[in-house]
Parts: sequence; structure tokens; C-alpha cells
Amino acid sequence: MIVILGVENEAHAKRVATYLQAKGEEYIFLDTQNYPNSIFLDWEATERNKGNITINNKKIPLSDIKSAYWRNFSDVKYEHFEDGENSEFLSSMLERERRSALHSFFYSLDTNWVNSMHAFDLHKKKAFLTSEFKKNGIRVPKTLITNDKDALIRFYEENDKNIIYKPVLGGAYTQKITDESLTDEQLATLKVSPVQFQEFVDGVDIRVYAFKNTLYSAIIEASTIDFREDMESKLIPVDLPKKVQEDCFKMMKIADLKYSGIDIRLSNKGEYVFIEANPAPMFIHAERVTGFPLTEELIKLLLS
Ligand SMILES: Nc1ncnc2c1ncn2[C@@H]1O[C@H](COP(=O)(O)OP(=O)(O)O)[C@@H](O)[C@H]1O
Ligand SMILES: [Mg+2]
Repeated sequence: MIVILGVENEAHAKRVATYLQAKGEEYIFLDTQNYPNSIFLDWEATERNKGNITINNKKIPLSDIKSAYWRNFSDVKYEHFEDGENSEFLSSMLERERRSALHSFFYSLDTNWVNSMHAFDLHKKKAFLTSEFKKNGIRVPKTLITNDKDALIRFYEENDKNIIYKPVLGGAYTQKITDESLTDEQLATLKVSPVQFQEFVDGVDIRVYAFKNTLYSAIIEASTIDFREDMESKLIPVDLPKKVQEDCFKMMKIADLKYSGIDIRLSNKGEYVFIEANPAPMFIHAERVTGFPLTEELIKLLLS
């Protein structure tokens, strides 16, 4: 049995399911939003994989779970429980209980996770990973995380006014800082949230799909700083120097990844600068335009 963490109507989860089916492998979708309302779980915390998970009335012994593909994690639901004055306390306590049980279970389930909850938790500490990569000799952009405008201005000057900003956690477009963008109004927003600033690596994007010991890499041709803003972006297969390939594997080891979509910037001076290693990258578009056998590689990993 292979668990697909995600929902049936999401393209990548669906594609993995289709491939598994074609190979005669049993799989099941796990949408954690349904826990504990309609997903039932028991496990003996002092034993290895002793217990059961019941999804859609199908009871699966934990020892039958061969691997787990982590596509989307929706965590547990917050539900409002009416309890007079104590409603808010009760509702958030129950949410915490659900979360603690589920996360402990994900950490405990001893299976072939692609990728593990530990890897996802690490990925959310992006700036920490950036420092770990640097410590291990991987070239990363100079990075500042701050909510202090004076620190930002100093960093801006120190880096010849050539920096970008993006969210600390990710998920929004990367943009360049200019003298014009440093208005009092903009700087005041730092009081609401810290921001991540980096030296701007002028050049092109490279996306690497990495599987245990195989790499597929392509240059992304886009007309915007952040390639996702350009819907017409193209991927052109490219070979990477040995040292860059080694750094990809090193990065995966540090980030606890068996499979990853690694973002690199190749600067105009020919320097490879590592941006991040994603634990559950999208791959359907890349597979279609490059012909890289990405789904097959992922399936191979799940069945290994
Ligand atoms: N320091 C940088 N210099 C130049 N481009 C960058 C830099 N950081 C990010 N980018 C561009 O923005 C994209 C998104 O940034 P990234 O850190 O990968 O965040 P996300 O989590 O949103 O994917 C990168 O793939 C790259 O194209
Ligand atoms: Mg990225």
C-alpha cells in the first residue's frame, strides 16, 4: 500500500496514482483535513508501525504501508466548539491535540517517505537551511532577514544597491529593491512582518530535478526575475559542472530529501548560486516540455 498525501483532484497526486495503478500497486489518498472526523488512527507509540489507519472505511495496517508520497499537506482543521465562555480555549486546545497526534504519527511512521515531515519542517526554516548550505561550502546568496529598516538600508548599501526581497517562507514573487521602492510607507510595512533580502544574482534560472542519485537539469528562459510570473517560460535541458552536481546531492542530504526540485541561479559571470531545494516540486509541466522521465523516477523511488 502506498499513501499519497494530498487530494485526488490535484494533478500531481492524480498522476502518481495513475502510474501506480498501471503497475498494479495499491494506493490511497490521505487528506488530513478529515482527521479525526472521518479518518481513524491508532498506533502504539512504543512499537514500530503497530496500529491501523482507516480511510474511507478501508482499514490499513500500518505495517502494510510501503511508502508515502508527500504532495500536499492540509494539516488538521480548526473547528469551533460551542462551550460558552470557554469556546475559544476549547476549540484551540482540540486543534492542538489533533495536530500533535497527527504530526507525531507522521514522524513515527517508519516508511519510505518521499519526503518526510522532518524535511518539510526543515524547509519551512528557509533561512536556517540557507546558513547550513553555506556552512557546507555551497554558494548561496548573501541573505538578510529583518524587520529593522536601518539594517535593510545598510544591507542595500553594502550590496551596491543590488538586492531583491521575497517572503521569509516563500510563496510570493521575488522583486528588486530600488531607491524609489524604499519609501517611508514601504519601510513601515516591516513593522508588520520581517522580510527576506538577498543579493540579486543577475543571470538565468536553472531547475534541477534530483532523485537520490540522478539529476535532470534545465535552464529556464523567462522574461521576469521570478520565472513563475512568465507563463511562456521554456525549459532547455543543460549539463551541470561536476561540483554543482555534487552540491545538489549535498544539499539534499542537509535538507533530508530523497527527491527535490532545486532552484539555482547561474549568474552572468558563470557562477552557480543555490536558492533552495523544494521537498514537493511540481513536475508535470517540466516533464512535458523537456521529456525528462520525472514521473517514472518518482515512481521508482516510491517502489524502491
Ligand atoms: N537572490 C536572488 N537573485 C535573483 N533571483 C532570485 C533570488 N532569489 C530568488 N530569485 C528568483 O525568485 C524565484 C523564487 O525564489 P525562491 O527563493 O525559490 O522562493 P519560492 O519559495 O517562492 O520558490 C527563484 O526561483 C529565482 O527565480
Ligand atoms: Mg523556489
